[in-house]
Amino acid sequence: MDKIKIIGGKKLEGKIFISGAKNAALPLICASLLTDETVTLTNMPMLSDIKAMNALMEQLGTQIDEFNDFVDGHPTKTYSYRTPKATSLVAPYDYVRKMRASYYVLGPLLARYGKCELSLPGGCAIGARPMDIHLSSLEQMGASIEIKNGYVNAKIDGRLKGAKITFRTVSVGATCNLLMAATLAEGTTILENSAMEPEIGDLANLLNDMGAKISGIGTPVLTIEGVEKLHGATHKVIADRIEAGSYAVAAAITRGKIELVNAQEPTLSRPLQILRDMGVGIEVKENSIIVDARGKELVGKDIMTEPFPGFPTDLQAQFLVLMLTAKGASMVTETIFENRFMHVPELLRMGANINVHGHASAIVRGVDKLSGAQVMATDLRASFALILAGLIAEGETIVNRVYHLDRGYEKLEEKLKGVGAQIERIKEADEE
Ligand code: EPZ
Repeated sequence: MDKIKIIGGKKLEGKIFISGAKNAALPLICASLLTDETVTLTNMPMLSDIKAMNALMEQLGTQIDEFNDFVDGHPTKTYSYRTPKATSLVAPYDYVRKMRASYYVLGPLLARYGKCELSLPGGCAIGARPMDIHLSSLEQMGASIEIKNGYVNAKIDGRLKGAKITFRTVSVGATCNLLMAATLAEGTTILENSAMEPEIGDLANLLNDMGAKISGIGTPVLTIEGVEKLHGATHKVIADRIEAGSYAVAAAITRGKIELVNAQEPTLSRPLQILRDMGVGIEVKENSIIVDARGKELVGKDIMTEPFPGFPTDLQAQFLVLMLTAKGASMVTETIFENRFMHVPELLRMGANINVHGHASAIVRGVDKLSGAQVMATDLRASFALILAGLIAEGETIVNRVYHLDRGYEKLEEKLKGVGAQIERIKEADEE
């Protein structure tokens, strides 16, 4: 398995192009299952999770064309998806096991074909992550759901029926699945306590461009007037706010200055406010954000993860590492997932001062230095947190299990090298 080697101590300065958002792209791909016409997605990130989703789509009978493209002079991918008629309505274990977001095929397949068999995703490194909200909400729309042999068998005679659904917890995944399902339902669906993450707005905008009738975008109440048929559309994927936030921390933690090209401030208000409160300079431009921490002494701040517009759980690990370089103590509270401090034991091995209390909170105290070590993380964002620690640690840090990073950070070493980091990938074959 590939590793990443970093020699710490470089101040990062320059520009980083922010790619299209993974967590927007994954449901957008599945939305193409709702029509027999072509859905074209531009500004797609080149990530292993996108490849995994494309493989699942092909197994369902989707024809995919891939094109090299450019956004603001940067190479990206454009993909066209066309599913005249699905050849399978089954999302098998081997696909779902590799990527939970495979469950986004459930809403569209059920809505268009009246049937879907989905391998039930298990828990993962960050928590139990059940699907009960997706399933009980689809039942409220008339679907009959049975769980057998590890699979969800969902069926409906005729069309799904519009319903008023109040999610018991804010869920990004359930909001996306139900939004897609409701577009082709008979009658009106109201989704209360919906997630408001920007990726959901992106999905709703594509669906409306395909002929859906969704209102309330960007609010917790989405109203969907069902239509009989959707058509093709072309859509540009929004910029990845979590990638942007991760590189903002790279600038702050090395006391450097990075311009995040393509990053969108409204999707990052809370994390940027925390950076400002810590003492980092933030300049918002029309199509970029400049993060400037040169010569700054930062002070610790408390953060608590919450659904959007609150502080994102997907930036918790990165900000926790940043707090290690700030003056004083910071309390980091995780409210979304029950097991999202798995990066802490690895950081302790590098000399961090962090006390985790139960599963929900950690006290982080500023330290004079971290020292390089061999480390590994169990999920994508925690892996990036270790990269950040490596950027400031004395000596050499080797981050193992790089496949986590390849799921969600496009051209990670290239982007960090471009702003002055001493970083390289050690390919498995290069090792002795
Ligand atoms: C999405 O996961 C993201 N994944 C996650 O990003 C992100 O951390 C998460 O939203 C929160 O923002 C994708 O977009 C592909 P949820 P999702 O449903 O949809 C509980 C990353 O690093 N819940 O909003 O699975 C759940 O257990 C990943 O890119 C139920 O109890 O998250 C959690 O505690 C990691 N029952 C909370 O709700 C359900 O049926 C929020 O989860 C569904 C969720």
